[in-house]
Formats: sequence, structure tokens, C-alpha cells
Amino acid sequence: MSEAFNQTTKIATLPGATGARSAEEECTDCSRRKFFARLGMGSLVVAGAGAGLFTYEFFSPNVLFESSPIVKAGKPEQFTPDTVTLDPQSGIYLVHSAQGFYALGAICTHLGCLTAWKQELDMIACPCHGSRFNREGIKIAGPAPQPLPWLKVTLSDDGFLMVDRSNILKAKEFVRAV
Ligand code: FES
Repeated sequence: MSEAFNQTTKIATLPGATGARSAEEECTDCSRRKFFARLGMGSLVVAGAGAGLFTYEFFSPNVLFESSPIVKAGKPEQFTPDTVTLDPQSGIYLVHSAQGFYALGAICTHLGCLTAWKQELDMIACPCHGSRFNREGIKIAGPAPQPLPWLKVTLSDDGFLMVDRSNILKAKEFVRAV
């Protein structure tokens, strides 16, 4: 018993034994501290990047890039005489009548549905609430409050029929292309 006691005493009293233990503890403490310092720095970097992105979004202009109101409808020879052709992408009708070409807006004046040409009925029909228009855009039935608008048609230098959707005509105009 006394020998075991002596060994313990010797270990405990060895010079530097206590110092080595505390250095080990200190090192564990030190790496933990480094880890938290790095974590803190990482959080700051992420927060800074988020704030920068938010600031950029806030100050950048909210501009909507709309397509041009002018539509290249096609060459006159593409349209058979006495036909009404719908271009659903641009929302227009190109009509080839005996007097010449003209264009109508194809969006119903009631609540904005895209209308459709009904060849067999010789009329333009709205699928939403039943408005009907003749081929000159005049309303013949339904709740639409206005006729379909006539749009400005011109012939470009290279021979294309151009429809300006932003230019609503007050009177009928026909374009002759012969
Ligand atoms: S949207 Fe065409 S009739 Fe209502």
C-alpha cells in the first residue's frame, strides 16, 4: 500500500507533469476557439453577401421589357383574297378584303379573351362570354362594350405588311399591295 502510494505521489510530484496536462487542455480549448472564430467569420461573410445582393436588387430598376407593338404580319401574297387570318401570338387579325388589307385587334373588348375566327359562321367569336363580331370588328352579339379595334397597317420597303398594335385607327383604312 505504501509502495502504491509512493508511486502516485511520485507521478503527482514529477516536475512538469501538471504543466503538460494543462497545455493539452489549453490546446483543445484553443482549437475550439478557432473553430468558433471561423464559424463567426463565415456567418459574417454570408450575411454580408446577402445584404449586398439585397441592396443590388433594391437599387436595380424594375423595368419590364415589352415586345415591339409593330408586327411583321407577312407578305401580301401569303394571304388569300377574302380571308381573315388570326395571329394568336401577336393578337391580331389580318383581313384581305376586296378593298385591300386591314388589321383588327383580336382581344375581346369585354374582359380580354382571345377571340377566334369562325369561317363557317363568317364571324369572330369570343369563347369566354359569347360576344360575336363581324369581319370588320363590329359587335353583333354578346356583352363586349366596344368593337374590335382597327390597327394601322403599312407596307414596308421590303414588301411586308406591318401592323402597329399601338396605333388604333379612328376610321377605316385599307392598304393596297399590288
Ligand atoms: S371576354 Fe369576350 S365576351 Fe367576355
